[in-house]
Amino acid sequence: MLRVLVCVSGGGTNLQAIIDAQKAGSLGETEIVRVISNNPDAYALTRAKEAGIDAVCVSPKEYGNREDFHKALLCAIDEAKPDLIVLAGFLVVVPKEVISSYRNRIINIHPSLIPSFCGTGYYGLKVHEAALERGVKITGATVHFVDEGTDTGPIILQKAVEVHPGDTPKELQLRVMQQAEWVILPEAIRMIAAGEISI
Ligand code: GRF
Repeated sequence: MLRVLVCVSGGGTNLQAIIDAQKAGSLGETEIVRVISNNPDAYALTRAKEAGIDAVCVSPKEYGNREDFHKALLCAIDEAKPDLIVLAGFLVVVPKEVISSYRNRIINIHPSLIPSFCGTGYYGLKVHEAALERGVKITGATVHFVDEGTDTGPIILQKAVEVHPGDTPKELQLRVMQQAEWVILPEAIRMIAAGEISI
């Protein structure tokens, strides 16, 4: 049984896709053991609670300095004894102590076809604004392993999505989520649970 911990910051639609995939039996031998958010107001926490999943908030605002926040985050992760950590719209830079403790066991969903529109400053709607600004005809999403860089770890899955003429950033974001993110993130977890992924 693969013990999966999901880190979130916002609406949690990617978390919901994982929950729904597990309920549908398409995640294989997995258990979502904990959801952690840095944001107490994240609707993702509500989604977790409604699914009966242990939901924890570790907010940087609760700690006097970044180091104490990092220690608390690592402690909340270790407590759940995860085999895999999934960053699903998590807007916190993962502390290096977490990356070294969970080397090659952290994955992230990024809303573009890496190496396009990724790296520092490219998150959420900004990614789609940049894609529209550049005028690309195809964009998409990427699931990759997390290393010490920003969106730089080995790529696991990608899925392309068409940009439509006149798309607003919001319209493009929703299409990328619906057609790509919510498909490849659960699939990557299934592949890892099935032992189909090696680095
Ligand atoms: C969205 O911008 C999504 O593209 C990216 O993270 C943001 C929040 O996603 N992966 P979610 O609804 O919280 O999963």
